[in-house]
This record gives sequence, C-alpha cells and structure tokens, in this order.
Amino acid sequence: MRKKIIAANWKMYMTVTETENFYRAFAAEIPQNNRFEILIAPPATALAKLSELNARASQRIRLAAQNMFYEESGAYTGEISPTMLRELFVRYVILGHSERRQIFGESDALVARKVRAALHYKLRPILCVGETREQREAGKEKEILERQLRVALQGVESSSLESIVVAYEPIWAIGAERSAVPEQTQQLHAFIRCVLTYLSNAAVAEKIPIQYGGSVNTGNVAEFLSQPDIDGALIGRASLEARKFADIIKAANKLS
Ligand code: 13P
Repeated sequence: MRKKIIAANWKMYMTVTETENFYRAFAAEIPQNNRFEILIAPPATALAKLSELNARASQRIRLAAQNMFYEESGAYTGEISPTMLRELFVRYVILGHSERRQIFGESDALVARKVRAALHYKLRPILCVGETREQREAGKEKEILERQLRVALQGVESSSLESIVVAYEPIWAIGAERSAVPEQTQQLHAFIRCVLTYLSNAAVAEKIPIQYGGSVNTGNVAEFLSQPDIDGALIGRASLEARKFADIIKAANKLS
C-alpha cells in the first residue's frame, strides 16, 4: 500500500504567531482515525516553532520545507541547507514548485541537483511537476511531465527513488477558481507512474506517492483521492485556516 499524504504548502503566508495559533487549533481537530500522513510546509521562519510545538504534541504532523539549496554550507546568501532542515526535524522538502520555477527561474537541472542533495541528506523530496495552460492547450502536457521527471530523476538509484513523492500540479489549476477534473487528472497520474516505471521499475513506481495540487478544497478532495493513482493532495489556500485544513482531512478520512 502506498503512503497517502495530505500536505499544506503555506507559501509566503503565516508568521510565527499565526503558526502557533494555527497549530493549537488544528492539532485538536485531527480525527482519531486519521489514515493520512499530514505534512505542513510553513515559511522557513516558522519551521523551528512548528517543530517545537509538534514535538510537544508527540509528532502529530510531519514537517516539510518549501525549498532548500543543494550544498551543506557555504557562501550562498539567502539559502538554507539540507542539514539545517534536518536539525529542525524536517522530513520532507518541496522541490521544483512551479512558483520557484516561474518566479525564481529554477531549471530542471537545478531541481535535479536539489533532489539528489535531499536524498543524500535523508530528506524526502516532494518533486513538483506540471504544465502551463498554453502547454496543456497545445496538447503537450505529457511531453512536459516526462521531461521534468526524467531530468530531475534520471540516474537516481531505484533504492533512493522509493523515498520520493511526486506532486502533479497543473500550473493553470493553482490559485484558480476551479481545480482540474479528477478523471482527467487520474490519467496524468497514471502516465506519471508509467514514466517512473521507465526510470526505475514497476515495483518501485508502485510505491511512489503521487499527490495532486491545484485548488483542492473540502468539496473536491474526496473525488481526487478516490482515483487509483492519486495518493494525496498538496494544498495551498485551503490549508491556511486550521478549521478548513482539518475539514479536508476529515473528508478524506471518510473515504473507504
Ligand atoms: P492552491 O491550493 O492555493 O491552488 O495552491 C496549490 C499549490 O500550489 C500547492 O503547492
């Protein structure tokens, strides 16, 4: 059975004080029967506080970073290293989010270096892939996904590949009024699993969770997660309020 993961990507929202308030409200709302791994990726400034709160609450969530650099230390102004994240008990790191690619110019090759560094330092990369609206309209989404996966993962040993998570986030569905259509999304998740099989083997590809991201909310989460190759969600806006995020987790847990 693949791990099912529901993750919050807070992007550049949430101060330390807001994080504290969120955590207190949220921890009380996590259902007893929760079957999902719950991840929160706060801004880097709130990681230490979240780590401390979570340790006190017996690790009810897993911590994720939104980005990192690939070197352990050095003259890299503004960057955060894998060992700095490990020190805060961070387990996952989102890499290659479309906002990093589009706004900060991250290339597939840079994302590939980060993926290797994360694996080396025993952090689980959440590798984000996804096409733009223009690419989708031109029917190029599979070509784009295949390239993003191949460049980021080629040459990674199968034993390490088992530790990655892929997040399919069609760029046109992020921060949008409407999400993608779950049935169509399933087809692309199945395609991503085919590419992962080609890059490793079927047994490894079967173990890799593939999350969907892009306007997930309480109303649509169950439909996404009931698709056979959609193994979780990566959630932006709807994860910023404790009640809303908890409601999503509750809705997901109602699935049989
Ligand atoms: P929204 O859920 O706000 O569309 O953001 C999705 C996202 O980018 C998660 O990484």
